[in-house]
Amino acid sequence: MTTLLAVVPKFIAKLWTDPLRDYAPWLKLFIHGEDEYAPKDIDYALGFRPPPGFFKTLPNVKAIFSLGAGVDGFLADPDFPTEVPLVRFVDHTMSREMTHYVVLHTLMFHRTQRQFDHAQSQKQWAQMFPPRRTEQTRVGILGLGEIGTMAGERLRDLDFPVAGWSRSKKTVPGIESFAGDGELEAFLARSDILICLLPLTPATRHILNRKTFAQLPQGAFIINAARGGHLVEADLIAAIDSGHLAGATLDVFETEPLPATSPIWTHPKITVTPHVAAMTDPRVAARYVADAIAAHLKGGKLDNLVDFKLGY
Ligand code: NDP
Ligand code: OXD
Repeated sequence: MTTLLAVVPKFIAKLWTDPLRDYAPWLKLFIHGEDEYAPKDIDYALGFRPPPGFFKTLPNVKAIFSLGAGVDGFLADPDFPTEVPLVRFVDHTMSREMTHYVVLHTLMFHRTQRQFDHAQSQKQWAQMFPPRRTEQTRVGILGLGEIGTMAGERLRDLDFPVAGWSRSKKTVPGIESFAGDGELEAFLARSDILICLLPLTPATRHILNRKTFAQLPQGAFIINAARGGHLVEADLIAAIDSGHLAGATLDVFETEPLPATSPIWTHPKITVTPHVAAMTDPRVAARYVADAIAAHLKGGKLDNLVDFKLGY
């Protein structure tokens, strides 16, 4: 029988394994930390933020599945066995939920919703915060991959002028494509709302910093829904407090949970959400993993493999 090891926190293990048991009874499931198993008997494994050094202890594992779209948690492990295929979670529902988050916070800023919330708290009838003109509010998306492309298309459909920045040039109708380090400055210079949807890699760590903020237009707004490691938090606060940036929405942080001492919690121009922009749906993930294993066992290739050299 084919074996699958779930490396997930014990208190939520059933959330992941129940749908797998229902959908793929032909898989013998083990939960790390709960079930007895011999590491040499494990054929496949899944997890999200695995304990460092763990996966090298499985000598016969044929593939490892990330329960998240981002795989930086795996690649931060210097002992990760890079000869084993690592499969990312890529699914329409994940891209859709991320898109909802991005569209929501783009519109919150664009329609000055926080100012109206404040006015309401003061019982003020404040017909005084007109939105910018949509056609003049240029959205820039760092990372035009699975999620960035869907988010960009939806914002384009709302008539925002949208551009994306990626490693390779893209052809997405109605979205201007900028590619590579050489085109980053021009991309930033035309981005009134900058949305980060990049993977966290050595090349993208701290890409949201003092220098990149200075290249944005006066009054620009930041949305980071990718990883906390993309942002230099102190540089963001300085750029907002100087008046250069209008504010930010952050879903991800260098340290999670965000420490109670962080000035970000109480900053009047920063909206905080606790890494919830999109949650992997366990029922969808069960099908994704089981279908991929079934195809692999029949000799098929695995999709959505991580390129270890690029780090995503
Ligand atoms: P993809 O791999 O599909 O897309 C990544 C994009 O980033 C690609 O367009 C890629 O370029 C671009 N890119 C990567 N490195 C560079 C670089 N050095 N310079 C320029 N562009 C670069 O990822 P997804 O869209 O699926 O996911 C993006 C990220 O979103 C995840 O890695 C994760 O961190 C985050 N995420 C956060 C969630 C949350 O709840 N907050 C939930 C889900 C995801 P190219 O196309 O040329 O390869
Ligand atoms: C992901 C996440 O990468 O939830 O999927 O952050």
